Order: sequence, then structure tokens, then C-alpha cells
Amino acid sequence: MFTLWTEINVYSRRRTIERFVMSEAMPKSNPFLQFPYGAIQMECNAWDLPVEGEIPAELFGTLYRNGPNQRFNPRGDYHLFAGDGMLHAFHITEGKVDYVNRWARTAKWNVEDREGRNVINPMNPFDCEPEYSDFVLTDLDGLANTAVLWHGDRLLAIEEGHPPFEMDPLSLDSVGSWTFRGKMTNRMTAHPKVDPETGELVFFSYMASDLFSADVMVHKADPAGNLTESVVIPTPYPAMVHDFVITENYIVIPVMPIVGSLERAMEGAAPFAWEPEKGAHIAILPRHGGTAENVRWLEMDICFAFHFMNAFDKDGVVTVDACQFEHPPLFSTVDGESTGKAEPYLSRWTADLNDADARMTFERIDDVESEFPQCDPRYVGREYRHGWYTSPDGQVAGILSENDNLYNVIGHVDHETGARNRYSCGNAVTSEAIFVPKSDTAAEGEGYLLSVVTSFDTHTSSLFIFDALDVSAGPLAKAHLSHYVPGGFHGGWRPGA
Ligand SMILES: [Fe+2]
Repeated sequence: MFTLWTEINVYSRRRTIERFVMSEAMPKSNPFLQFPYGAIQMECNAWDLPVEGEIPAELFGTLYRNGPNQRFNPRGDYHLFAGDGMLHAFHITEGKVDYVNRWARTAKWNVEDREGRNVINPMNPFDCEPEYSDFVLTDLDGLANTAVLWHGDRLLAIEEGHPPFEMDPLSLDSVGSWTFRGKMTNRMTAHPKVDPETGELVFFSYMASDLFSADVMVHKADPAGNLTESVVIPTPYPAMVHDFVITENYIVIPVMPIVGSLERAMEGAAPFAWEPEKGAHIAILPRHGGTAENVRWLEMDICFAFHFMNAFDKDGVVTVDACQFEHPPLFSTVDGESTGKAEPYLSRWTADLNDADARMTFERIDDVESEFPQCDPRYVGREYRHGWYTSPDGQVAGILSENDNLYNVIGHVDHETGARNRYSCGNAVTSEAIFVPKSDTAAEGEGYLLSVVTSFDTHTSSLFIFDALDVSAGPLAKAHLSHYVPGGFHGGWRPGA
């Protein structure tokens, strides 16, 4: 076996045991293989983290983070989306924080563990070792590197190209691909939605019925995690669809023109390209009994959004809050040119479904750049007041361009009063901030905001815990790690039980 495991006690009182996985040094040429995005070649259990401030006593459960953590020196040009998924768990109880991190031991991870090197290129099946040339096309596990879902008593690491990957919620031991007992034959978006009243899980896969097919498949699962419904909706073109929203009465799927092309893929070009001439089309599907026949398509001026804060419907008017770009950043056009820099701003979309000629319209409702929007999960799909996001303050330069800035601010928006509330973490980068209610009966927004903050001064990460309605007061508590959590994508919360 190539991998060499050693165990050392890092702290006295045996409260932290770190296990290091020896591996190759990563190329310096790719910024996504260096701090703060580069992999940590280490798995550990760290008990009772040093804490500054006071962890709220009622905070009980686990915050998870997911992101790429490339294990071996990659083949070809490394893309951040192609890194091996690693989960980080912060278990919080009685004012203390324990930490665990583990790679998702996917089929790719296990094959490469045996080989002791990177033999599969997840972005290009033509660049795998010959004996693994069909691996990418048949693999069920994928990279499990994008987001986390706790539903039906299962912890699922998800990325939109494959079924979810189940892991143990406490130890983060890998369980394996979760296909709803074989009933789900395609993939799960990295942004499934849980209805706060029914516990129903709603999700979709894009290009669902075949390679680069022009359709999405919408799925539902009951609170116990049983797949209950799957329906195929044809789309105007084969589109990459990252996120969507639900309301009480509708499922809203934004088809915006990052278009997939088998022809381009066969020619060795980027399979997805920004094709604005194909237009933006918004599918409005009845939440119950929706079919390809009763879906309503709304046209929209061209724009793009990766992520949505929330949505709701009232008196036939659908409202959607999006972190909206003029165009997606850093994608290719059909000519192979980069779409270049673009900044997202919180924008409110509305459509009056009472109007037979309705379009989806939008207006910017915030004046600062923001991404990774969140709301109180008890208000998903309902009229809501409070939202949170991450944002830059300009003091931390981006790693790709001096004109860009890393996100180091946690922001709160009050849609009712229009108030904005921000806290800068300084020379650091913040993760998506996850809201946790103070109790089941607490009012909307009453609770805590949890973000993993990585310092450029110390090259370590800390869990920051804020009062969600007073983020500008700074964190109530910080729980410190002795290493950093690589910049990743999304997280999630599992209530303690
Ligand atoms: Fe996402």
C-alpha cells in the first residue's frame, strides 16, 4: 500500500489526534492547489477545540463543510470542481466543539488509493489511464465535493454530476452512493430543498435522461427519504442548472444559457459554453402534480445566477431572490473566449402568474457584491424577512486577478426594513454562513450564524459563531483549528439528537 499513515498526538491530554496521509507536493503553478484552496493531506479527530468567547449553550448539533481536497498530483490542468471531496464536521454540544475531517472514499478515491497516484481525470475521460478509460462515464460515486444534506436520517455529500454519497454523520466514515434504493437513476443537484412544514425533499437533475439531453428531471422524497415522484420536463436546450427554488405552490427552475454540447465535447473543446442568444427561460412547475404538460415557461432578460436566497408566492405573484450576475464568470463562449469577470448582486425577481403574458422581471435590491446566500431554513419557500450572505470588503485580493477580491465579510439583509448589517473578518476568507435557529419556536432569524473563517495571517481556520441578527457585533465565539479548511463550496447543519 502506497499510503503511509502515522499518528501523532498534537496536543497534550490526548485531546487531538491527527493522522497524516503522505502524498506528493502539488504543482505551484495552479493557485487552486495552494492556500487557501489547496488540499490538506491530513485527516484527524480533534476533540475539545480551544475556544475564544462563549459557545451558546443551546447550540447543539453539527456544522458540516464540503469542498474539493485533491489527494494526488492531478492529471492535466487541475480544475477546482475536480478535486476529491472532503467533509469537515464541527460537532457542537454543551459549549464545546469537536472536529472531524475525512475524504469521501468514493470509487475514484479507492482506485487511486490502491494505485498510489491520480489515474482518473474527472473532467476528461480521454485523459484517464487506459485501463480506466470508461471510469468517468460509469462511475456512480463522483467526487462528492460540493454540498451537504441532512435528510431522512442520512448525511449526504452531494455534487450535481452524480447521486449523493452517504457518510456517517459522526465519524464521517464513508457508506457509499445513495440512489434511494435504486429508484433514482440519475443525479441530484447540489442545492436540494426541504419543505419546512412537510419535510418533503425536492430536487432535480439536469440533462437528465441522456448525455447532454435537453431536459430536467424533478424528484421528490418523503421525510423518511423514500423517493415518491420523478417527472421529466423538456427544456429549451441542454443547460447546466446549478440551483433552483421552491415556493408553497411552485417549483421554479431557471434555465439560463450555459449550454452543453456533445459535439463540442467530442471535438475536445469545453463541453459547456455561455450562449446568451439562446435566452433565459424560467420553468414554473406546480408544486403538486406538476408535469411536462402543465409546466409554464416564462421568458426573462438575459442574466445568470448560481445561487438563490429564497422564494415565495403570494396571490399568484412569484418572488425569487438571487445573487445575480450579468453573465457567468470565467466560462467559455462558443468561440472559446472567456466570459471574464462578473460580480453578483442580490436581485429580486418577480412574475405575476395572473398575467397570461407574464415575464420574469428583476431589479437589484442591494449595492454590495454578495454570494452564498442563505435564509432561515424554517422559511424556505415562504414569505421571509431575513437573509445572509458572504461579501468582500476589498482588503483581500483575489488569487486569479488583482481586480478581484476574496469574500471576507458576513452580511445580513432585512427585507422588511431594508437594513444591512456587516462584519469583516479582516485578512481572511469566509465560508458560506449557515443559520441555526435558537430553538424550534424562536422567531424568524433568532439564532446563530456559523461560518468557517480562514486567516491569511496564521494559515489556520476557525469556526465563527455570530448572533444572526447582530453580525456587526462580531463573533460570540471562535473555535480554533491548528490547520486550515481549504476553501470549498457549501455546508449544512444537522440538529443534535
Ligand atoms: Fe452551489
